[in-house]
Amino acid sequence: MNRIDGSDSLKGPMTADERRIRELEAEIEILRDKAYNFETLIMSSPIGVYRTTPDGTVLMANRALAEMMGYDTVEELLKKNIAEQGYAVDSYRTLFKETVERLGRVSGFESAWRRKDGSVMFIREYARVVKDDSGRPVYYEGTIENITDRNKTEMLLKESLRQIGRTFNELVETLSEAMNIRDPYTADHEKRVAALSHAIAIEMGHSEGFANILRTAAMLHDIGKIYIPAELLSRPGALRKEEMELIKVHADAGWDILKNVSFDQPIAEMIRQHHEKLDGSGYPRGLKGNDIMLEARILAVADIVEAFSSHRPYRPAFGIAQALDEIDRMGREGKLDRQAVAACQRLFRQKGFELP
Ligand SMILES: [Fe+2]
Repeated sequence: MNRIDGSDSLKGPMTADERRIRELEAEIEILRDKAYNFETLIMSSPIGVYRTTPDGTVLMANRALAEMMGYDTVEELLKKNIAEQGYAVDSYRTLFKETVERLGRVSGFESAWRRKDGSVMFIREYARVVKDDSGRPVYYEGTIENITDRNKTEMLLKESLRQIGRTFNELVETLSEAMNIRDPYTADHEKRVAALSHAIAIEMGHSEGFANILRTAAMLHDIGKIYIPAELLSRPGALRKEEMELIKVHADAGWDILKNVSFDQPIAEMIRQHHEKLDGSGYPRGLKGNDIMLEARILAVADIVEAFSSHRPYRPAFGIAQALDEIDRMGREGKLDRQAVAACQRLFRQKGFELP
């Protein structure tokens, strides 16, 4: 008798029950097929897959996980206890268990596992807790990705980034020093403006990253003076109007020199704007208010304070007190950023800041 395939019609038409049974059997066949495909997928996945009891005994694992952990076969890994043998450091297991039980799952949990031969591998884990009807954890299941190589690559990348950062800073300093050779009277001007700009930015509550970019801009802010005859830069005595106009070229010139350097922030633009004033009375473009970048506004304050407090070929140093009065006046006149001025005043008057 074979009613399943419907070919046996000797016993007459199928009853409703028989039809239902046949439908169910067909559904079971489909599910079995799906389960088989799913299991094949899991077993052949390049990512490690496991199921363990809550205390860590391995109930199911795929080939990738066995290989990752240095076992010859999946069977060898079964019945091992991940909690006791898997984690390189016990605290990883504790943290994993705490997290997975509290949230019901972990996503991208990174830790270190110990392989069969004792070597350590770094892994990333996605896992969930499967609970029974009473809410009691029955097992954990999840995936494991070996990220040891990625970790090594990341460390190497970080180191080369640090190296590039060092080289970059040295290059900036060297460029700045090169300017000092042409213009010894303003030697260290940029270094001092850089230190003050950085300190003002931090005092205003900006991030270290923001302050560092500003420091770089400050280290190079007068690089455009390379276009100006050295005699003019170091000549004692007041400058004539046309000489002053010539000096003003340095803001645009600095921008022109650096505009094609791919800094990750618009440093060339900050430099171009460092002589702009909020009321539009600055140069080279007479920008106003918010059209002037915040970095350039801070740079302007630091530049004026440093220039005022230092000796120049055509005048003696005025000193810090007078420099602070000057920026205060310019702040009140609407030329300088009031917050940058206030931060600078606090640095010198309350926090004991000194120019290097
Ligand atoms: Fe300048």
